[in-house]
Amino acid sequence: MRVLGIETSCDETGVAIYSSKDGLLAHELYSQIKMHAEFGGVVPELASRDHIRKLPGLIKQCFKSAGLEWGDIDALAYTAGPGLIGALMVGATVGRSLAMAWDIPAIAVHHMEGHLLAPMLEDEPPEFPFVALLVSGGHTQLIDVQSVGEYNLLGETLDDAAGEAFDKTAKMMGLPYPGGPLLSQIANNGVAGRFVFPRPMVDRPGMEFSFSGLKTAVRNAIAKIAVDGVVSEQDQADIAFGFQEAVVETLAIKCRRALKHTGHKQLVIAGGVSANTQLRIRLAEVAKKECAKLFYPRSEFCTDNGAMIAYAGCQRLLQGEQSSLEVNPKPRWPISDLHKPESC
Ligand code: KG4
Ligand code: ZN
Repeated sequence: MRVLGIETSCDETGVAIYSSKDGLLAHELYSQIKMHAEFGGVVPELASRDHIRKLPGLIKQCFKSAGLEWGDIDALAYTAGPGLIGALMVGATVGRSLAMAWDIPAIAVHHMEGHLLAPMLEDEPPEFPFVALLVSGGHTQLIDVQSVGEYNLLGETLDDAAGEAFDKTAKMMGLPYPGGPLLSQIANNGVAGRFVFPRPMVDRPGMEFSFSGLKTAVRNAIAKIAVDGVVSEQDQADIAFGFQEAVVETLAIKCRRALKHTGHKQLVIAGGVSANTQLRIRLAEVAKKECAKLFYPRSEFCTDNGAMIAYAGCQRLLQGEQSSLEVNPKPRWPISDLHKPESC
């Protein structure tokens, strides 16, 4: 089965073609980062308009790269949520319309299910069951994954997501949008131990997270050392180091608990923050201590992309599931609402 996947939930327009027989045939990605940077964050209306502008060209390019004609596709998969409503509407409408025009089934894919299954696109994929840490700009969740659609939520953030904390902290430090990856980069020049921030919620049992207090701790640290509201480059790097350490260690402690709790021997990280090198290093150590193995997607599939949507959609379509003609994107859609694939 060949599936065309479309991702437009936020500020990346992603398109890909996945074949259940031959794997990933093509993928194209356009990032709107430059456009949103001057506003310091994603402007939803601009995001929707840009998805409309870019999507047709990216779809054509994907067919060209894969050497396929329109009729060579068996199904359509589009992100239906969670995400920005206008942005989701673009991908869902285009996906549903193409499926109707080509007379093929379409499936509405959960964006976080896409992230969660993205490591399956790699040469040595994890096998069910496993523990997944989903860490993106909007989500921080630990999930006991039994199979496609069987997701037991072990814990999640009570306030900010890890990626959101990275971005907001970076903004506080005067770094340009999107701050997360940049903050992580400048942390490489930071001095260890100069700033030690709290590890939120590690002293109580459970697998819940909270990152908003950490943000406040950074704000207070900046206020203490800033001269006329400005901190030096070295101060920035030292704060970035301390912040990243606190987030990474908190995530690592909870991942270890999740492995112990479930007894699973595989740990998967996915979502934008899984591109973070320190997080990968620390979780590899955690996995080793628990005699488990760590999996993550290649860097370009950690952040939003069409390949993960084509893959996730394909897994459900193969088991007979498809979505109705309705175009009904959901800006909020808890992953625990998902079920094992069902034929309709
Ligand atoms: O998965 P994603 O592309 O979009 C959402 O579904 O939210 O994740 C984007 C998030 C942003 O918050 C970004 O700052 C963060 O992932 N991110 C990183 C890194 N790369 C992306 N955070 C820390 N270190 C990184 N290397
Ligand atoms: Zn995402």
